[in-house]
Amino acid sequence: MDEAGFSIVILGAGKATRFKSERPKVLHAIAGRPMGEYVLRAAAAAGPDRIYLVVGHEAGQVQEAFARPGLEFIEQEEQLGTGHALMVARPELERCPSGHVVVLAGDVPLLEAETIRALVAAHARARAAATILTLRLADPSGYGRIVRAGKRVRAIVEEKLATPAQKRIREVNTGILCFSRRLLLAHLAELTCENAQGEYLLTDLVGIFNRHRLRVTAVEAPPEQARGINDRAQLAAVEKYLHRRKAAALMISGVSIADSETTYIDEDVAVEPDTAIEPGVILRGRTRVGKGCHLGAYSSITDSVLADGVTVRPACVIEDSDLGPGCVVGPFARLRAGAVIGADARIGNFVEVKKSTIGPGSKAQHLTYLGDATVGARANIGAGTITCNYDGTNKNPTHIEDEVFIGSGNMLVAPVSIGKGSFTAAGSTITEDVPPESLALGRARQVTKEGWARERKAKAKP
Ligand code: UD1
Ligand code: CA
Repeated sequence: MDEAGFSIVILGAGKATRFKSERPKVLHAIAGRPMGEYVLRAAAAAGPDRIYLVVGHEAGQVQEAFARPGLEFIEQEEQLGTGHALMVARPELERCPSGHVVVLAGDVPLLEAETIRALVAAHARARAAATILTLRLADPSGYGRIVRAGKRVRAIVEEKLATPAQKRIREVNTGILCFSRRLLLAHLAELTCENAQGEYLLTDLVGIFNRHRLRVTAVEAPPEQARGINDRAQLAAVEKYLHRRKAAALMISGVSIADSETTYIDEDVAVEPDTAIEPGVILRGRTRVGKGCHLGAYSSITDSVLADGVTVRPACVIEDSDLGPGCVVGPFARLRAGAVIGADARIGNFVEVKKSTIGPGSKAQHLTYLGDATVGARANIGAGTITCNYDGTNKNPTHIEDEVFIGSGNMLVAPVSIGKGSFTAAGSTITEDVPPESLALGRARQVTKEGWARERKAKAKP
């Protein structure tokens, strides 16, 4: 690498017109990460002297999402074009110590650090004023076309401004360029917005450099890295590509994936070897799955940690939860934020758990709601049990100690505690604390009226 070093300016101020969105484009998620996050990570990994992010539309939101050490924000209040974004960055570029300036687009998320470094290296070798990262496409529509004279680039012509002959050029601008900082600053002020697009186009610098007999060259990008995302269909296509890539990488690392076309695994998810994933599984966010797990069909797992040997049966929805080794969940279980399931515990069908800790070896197998509860070890929660945790104002806790047996169909009216080893009778409404080793019955005595039905039928006859 050239000793002059480089800094990176990421353009991310645009309003995402073609997204038709209130949210800035760089915050739209792809495979679990905001689009801009990919660009920021690639930029940092390339090893620049400085990284600047130009923000504009909803600047506050973008800064909040991306703030980190070593990143400087530049506000472009009015978005008058990619060239204007650099004009706004001028004071920072004047202070910046690097010989080269790399411009990245916030909407080209798959670019890798190696490609940035290769661009800078080629630029330094060619002693160029600017070097453009280009791409050859079967269908170049929508992109700026590269007008060449041999190795030199004469101009970049935006789609809207291109002649029919220029529109046939298949080599396009990726939106990623490397400039000599000195020459960029010397000629930036020559950009105007007097063109059919009415914008200050960064790409016009190529023509300007040529008029000053300065050299502009180009290097080709690996095609899969240079896709720009201008609309939601392009976003979906990139997301599909990332999901396929992730599944392929996991399979190589020892994870079984029955159908990688229907299994969506976000970029930051980790899965250890010998885990098997059935069709339709969605693993989102920062989910971590241990070794030898089995993830049943059509389960969605977000920001959760699964220890080794966990079984998730089909059709579970799990978020912000922690599943201990060997536990079995589902089918049709819902684990909400703060569910902590102990080792070898069982959470069965139509059981909802929220902000509750279920101790090792405990079972809640059928039709149950456990909210704001702690359940000790080896407890059994009968079918249809409900922690009545909400009194209309406050959420109250339920404590169930080790080896408790809660009969079927219990209402546990919180706050309430059931002491170690106790039993509650089926159908109980438990409103008072139960001491250890006791039996609590909280239900009305049965009244049976023998012959009542027969008599009623007799009376009804005419
Ligand atoms: C741009 C290039 C085009 C290239 C294509 C590749 C220009 C003029 N055109 O077109 O040659 O083929 O990318 O994907 O550069 N932005 C700002 N401030 C502004 C305007 C835009 O920060 O005032 C940001 C946008 O948020 C975006 C990036 O610059 O991240 C590119 O802008 P966009 O409008 O998407 O340009 P394209 O039409 O895609
Ligand atoms: Ca774009």
